[in-house]
Amino acid sequence: MKHIVVLTGAGMSAESGIATFRDSGGLWEQHSIEDVATPEGFCRNPQLVLDFYNARRKAAFEAIPNKGHTGLAEMEREYKVSVITQNVDSLHERAGSTDVLHLHGELDKVRSTADPSLIYTLTADNPEIHLGDKCEKGSQLRPHIVWFGEAVPMIEKAMGIVRVADTLVVIGTSLNVYPAAGLLNYVKSGTPIYLIDPNEVKASYPGVHFIRKGASEGVEELRGLLEGLK
Ligand code: APR
Repeated sequence: MKHIVVLTGAGMSAESGIATFRDSGGLWEQHSIEDVATPEGFCRNPQLVLDFYNARRKAAFEAIPNKGHTGLAEMEREYKVSVITQNVDSLHERAGSTDVLHLHGELDKVRSTADPSLIYTLTADNPEIHLGDKCEKGSQLRPHIVWFGEAVPMIEKAMGIVRVADTLVVIGTSLNVYPAAGLLNYVKSGTPIYLIDPNEVKASYPGVHFIRKGASEGVEELRGLLEGLK
């Protein structure tokens, strides 16, 4: 079975109503990265950071997978599909994808600030954490999110998956954030790369097949193209 590896970013969930980061009106136009997405920001003003992720978590619980997510899940009937996502929502899983690696953490999880192995899952009924919410060892809980300046524990695993891809598909990422953006360098030489994005993306990788569409339409076009290659 052909192994399709898919690297997704915020644009994958845009049609589900979740804001991207760097588009006009994106999250980083309205919030400072330093304040809400760094360990230093959390030390300075933990309540601001918890509020930011509480709001995003609620939005993610309310969102539903779009046709791009469901299209990728359906592709598992014909291909081995591994999704590596920079997204912290769980829309790939909710669409039915069974092999999903989260590079930047997961919004519906929180963890102990003292012991990172103590991870707890929140539900739509109880989507918030606040100052004073503690792990079983008595330390404050924080979002299970990889902040800027923190290590990306899943990157080695992601590199290994990209190395064995027969085809790489990149959807809805501006490829601005490393090490995730560098994953394209790990494909075997000659591996076809498809890039789905309605806007220009500076991916200077030779031979990239650019599908200039949103995720839903783009995944549909991709499936047709792959079918034609059978
Ligand atoms: N379908 C597909 N792509 C889209 C759509 C859509 N409907 N709408 C917008 N896009 C594209 C944009 O053109 C852009 O290239 O999605 C991309 C979003 O880029 P970013 O906002 O930079 O998001 P991303 O690349 O995922 O950011 C990476 O940055 O702040 C961090 O941790 C955060 O994981 C995130 C990382």
